[in-house]
Amino acid sequence: MKAFIYNQYGPPEVLQLKEVEKPTPKNNEVLIKIYAATVNRTDCGVLWGKPFIIRFFTGLSKPKMPTTGTDFAGVIEAVGKDVKSFKIGDKVLGFDDSGIGSHAEYITFPEHKAIIIIPDSITYEQAAASAEGAHYAYNFINKVNIKAGDNVMLNGATGAIGSAALQMLKAMDVRVTATCRAQHINVIKSLGADKVIDYEKEDFTKDNEKYHFVFDAVGKSTFGKCKPLLHRGGIYISSELGPGNQNPFLALITPLLGGKKVKFPIPFDPKKSLNIIKNLLEQGKFKPVIDDKKFAFEQVPEAFRYAASAQKLGNVVITIAKR
Ligand SMILES: NC(=O)c1ccc[n+]([C@@H]2O[C@H](COP(=O)([O-])OP(=O)(O)OC[C@H]3O[C@@H](n4cnc5c(N)ncnc54)[C@H](OP(=O)(O)O)[C@@H]3O)[C@@H](O)[C@H]2O)c1
Repeated sequence: MKAFIYNQYGPPEVLQLKEVEKPTPKNNEVLIKIYAATVNRTDCGVLWGKPFIIRFFTGLSKPKMPTTGTDFAGVIEAVGKDVKSFKIGDKVLGFDDSGIGSHAEYITFPEHKAIIIIPDSITYEQAAASAEGAHYAYNFINKVNIKAGDNVMLNGATGAIGSAALQMLKAMDVRVTATCRAQHINVIKSLGADKVIDYEKEDFTKDNEKYHFVFDAVGKSTFGKCKPLLHRGGIYISSELGPGNQNPFLALITPLLGGKKVKFPIPFDPKKSLNIIKNLLEQGKFKPVIDDKKFAFEQVPEAFRYAASAQKLGNVVITIAKR
């Protein structure tokens, strides 16, 4: 089979499309023929080995996993002898953000990890785009107690996380103010934003409304700057560590001080996230946003360059195999 291989951290030039051995599933694994995957911000971190902290998971001096790729959508081609919940022919999606080598024609994946059957109504491309970003979005929302009618500020509503978070919030009957560039205002409105701020023209931290929650899905703000936006007891969550890694630290101390708080969205139980996302997909309450730029399997390095530009809309999808 073909796979994108790399043996040193670096820019997309370190990737080479090579012929490698097709994997064989262990007793608790399934073999998946991959039809679609994405290149997301985690993949960029894994390829470049940046920020350095990522190397504690992916390999200190060189990558442990020879192939990039963290999510997939495809069909099960073989099952290990102990596998109970999947059978040959099942269409599945899944991810593991420590890397699963899905920029390849086949992978093996343990049945107990984050893998679910794809709803009938969606394509492999939509399925791949419903995994990691949406999981992170759900892990913003499940850290707080949101009630219908709450007012939420969402910075960076155009990313994979932001576009999923916006739809999840609207499914909870929440009022959302969202930020993006002028060219994406219509997309963000179509996802349900009640008010849109063009971040190139206006500083969202100076908005005159008060919010129960400020979610920064692109990690470009700080708690200090967003504090005036929050109601008393309001909560700030960012997708990034913040300057000087302040966000995890603030998440420890602000609850002790009372008043406005920071939470850090450490994700957990990815299989649960996928099942929640599946329900939203089936109910038509979530549709993954996919960038207009589409990439074929051979164009994985180009897709990395584009995803790293931080200008993508939603998810960057790669078609690994055509049906
Ligand atoms: N996606 C993942 O799987 C993942 C996983 C873990 C952590 N993260 C982190 O989470 C963050 C978001 O990742 P993402 O993949 O969802 O999106 P992303 O690719 O980082 O960003 C996508 C969008 O963010 C918007 N943006 C850029 N600068 C902005 C600014 N100053 N203010 C507001 N919006 C801005 C841009 O929208 P416009 O085109 O409208 O300008 C861009 O299209 C990143 O910092 C990433 O490192 C991502």
